[in-house]
Amino acid sequence: MENLDAGIIYNKEVGPGYFLLGLDWRPLAFKPGQFVMLRVSDGLDPLLRRPFGIYRVMSGGNGVELLYQVVGKGTRILSLKRPGERLGVLGPLGNGFTMPPKGARVVMVAGGMGIVPLYPFAHEVRGAVLLYGTRDAAQASVAGDFKELGCPVRHATEDGSLGVKGYVTELLKEELTRDAVVYACGPAPMLKAVAAMAAGSGTQCYVSLERSMACGIGVCLGCAVKGGAHADAENKLYKMVCSDGPVFESKEIDWEAF
Ligand SMILES: Cc1cc2nc3c(=O)[nH]c(=O)nc-3n(C[C@H](O)[C@H](O)[C@H](O)COP(=O)(O)OP(=O)(O)OC[C@H]3O[C@@H](n4cnc5c(N)ncnc54)[C@H](O)[C@@H]3O)c2cc1C
Ligand code: FES
Repeated sequence: MENLDAGIIYNKEVGPGYFLLGLDWRPLAFKPGQFVMLRVSDGLDPLLRRPFGIYRVMSGGNGVELLYQVVGKGTRILSLKRPGERLGVLGPLGNGFTMPPKGARVVMVAGGMGIVPLYPFAHEVRGAVLLYGTRDAAQASVAGDFKELGCPVRHATEDGSLGVKGYVTELLKEELTRDAVVYACGPAPMLKAVAAMAAGSGTQCYVSLERSMACGIGVCLGCAVKGGAHADAENKLYKMVCSDGPVFESKEIDWEAF
């Protein structure tokens, strides 16, 4: 893990309220699914760093790219940063994805910005299918990066402007075979539904969780989630999303309490 100031190479709007941030930081190594904590302000407001997944290594290898959506104060401040400004970066953090067993049919399920950690994963696991749920077609444009990797992409949009009209779980029904392994990231209701469907069909499922985070390193206990009946070998009742996760096997989580 590094704690440094990185320079902004670019910070450009690539979709409605979506920004691609290029930083001149080259982590020695990172695992798909790991994230960074960014300090978006030198002042006290907002005081806390914000978590963002690592999207990809910049072409040419001169840095990394993060992809984010403006949702509140911190991301609004971030969106106003210009090339040459510097940001505090802490990372890479978290555990990242467990790679699928050989021969598994890999199904990725993303909702909105949940697509971010799945990109470096898809880069390593070529040929995985992506089921992508968004509000509308404009929000879904990021999927082009996955098509370039050779991933078959199926869309679900809430307004029906692209693919199936409705939630991404409609698409998942047809993909849940016994040889499948599911990797999901997105809003809590989506993850709950995906975990329930995977449990119902006996399909192995990994979820990358999002929680508000203060420290990002397992110290403040602010990102705790309750463990499920099939807790891991350590059998912890509560797990820290930042340091035990953000990726968990879905059966490790108590979804009633999530
Ligand atoms: C491990 C991890 C990785 C993430 N990766 C990305 C990413 O790659 N790209 C991206 O756009 N976002 C990502 N997020 C979410 C991102 O951290 C939040 O959107 C951001 O912290 C919001 O900060 P803000 O100050 O703009 O909003 P705030 O003013 O803090 O909140 C504004 C609104 O956003 C909601 N919100 C705040 N934090 C979260 C959160 N963590 N999850 C869901 N809703 C939240 C609040 O409830 C509120 O409704 C990630 C979160 C985690 C935990
Ligand atoms: S954010 Fe502090 S323990 Fe996870």
